Amino acid sequence: MGVLKKRWPGLASLPQLELCAGPTRVERLDTVSFDTGAELWAKRDDESATLYGGNKVRKLEWILAQAKARGCRTLVTAGALGSHHVLATATWGREHGMQTRAILVPQPWTPHVEQNLRALLATGAIVTPIKNLGFLPAAMAREVVLRRLKGDRPQRIELGGSCPTGALGYVEAGLEIAEQVDHGECPEPEFIYVALGTGGTAAGLAIGLAAAGFTTRVVGVRVTESKVINTLTLRMLVRGTARRLRALDPSFPAVAKAAFELIQIDNRYFGDGYGTPHAGAAAAMEAAARDGIRLDQTYTGRAFAAMLADGHEGGGRRLFIVTLSGADLGPRIENAPEVPAWARAMGEL
Ligand SMILES: Cc1ncc(COP(=O)(O)O)c(C=O)c1O
Repeated sequence: MGVLKKRWPGLASLPQLELCAGPTRVERLDTVSFDTGAELWAKRDDESATLYGGNKVRKLEWILAQAKARGCRTLVTAGALGSHHVLATATWGREHGMQTRAILVPQPWTPHVEQNLRALLATGAIVTPIKNLGFLPAAMAREVVLRRLKGDRPQRIELGGSCPTGALGYVEAGLEIAEQVDHGECPEPEFIYVALGTGGTAAGLAIGLAAAGFTTRVVGVRVTESKVINTLTLRMLVRGTARRLRALDPSFPAVAKAAFELIQIDNRYFGDGYGTPHAGAAAAMEAAARDGIRLDQTYTGRAFAAMLADGHEGGGRRLFIVTLSGADLGPRIENAPEVPAWARAMGEL
């Protein structure tokens, strides 16, 4: 049983699948700490699950459990061509007998995107391309209606799994960090760094930390367009998640305001746009590799770059959440279907 249900038994009725392999470890990053003069740590959520880890699996523990409890056989979701969220959903959905139908939007083509897309196709997911995010609400609604007409009971999953149910996964992670600090596994961080895509990770973390009485700042390094994530959408997500927790267990502390105030949106690393090459991220990826951490350019490389820059400037105790799955997709894509021509063309739009 996770720390959330242990501490607030009123949440026991909420369905949760056990997809994660227990608390992920925290470790000191000796090389980058030495280079920057700061005390830099990592929480290894890349090891959160062997099949497919990273941050998405924490959200899916709650989202897929809800879908299963409703008797769903189809998951309808969306993301960019190389979306980790869509891949995680299709991978874990298949394990639990649900097929994923995904709407995909363009993103610059890279070997990482190609690998993710091939792994997605290997799960048997059905993908539908659209040209831009503006068409997404209609495309999702259409897919859900079509499935219903076929007698199915589809579960719609928001972009990035960032809804109050999905964010619970990171409330749990925030509480987990507080326990690790209390047990002396790492010093209490002044700042925690995560990539800010659709916000569920940062929102959940802040609620978990605030509920544990911590005042650690959560630095959300924005990597998606501000129409996807901004102060308003983040505030709504924090409020909705906190409200859901208190509705289920009124003894859960009223931390929505305090949690929202812990989050700082860092806009410095958006660069030329979502998924575009970024020199700072590339340098950060090399630096992290020296401490044995593999990052990607779209999300984690940008967030790590922010932590390095702030560490250089201000020292301090800083913790990075490795939200990228560490699972080796190589064997899974050996016999995967070829990437359709439209996908490559979309990646070059
Ligand atoms: C590797 C990785 N890190 C971080 C994030 C950001 O998480 P969130 O969407 O909860 O802000 C994502 C989102 O897709 C991701 O794939």
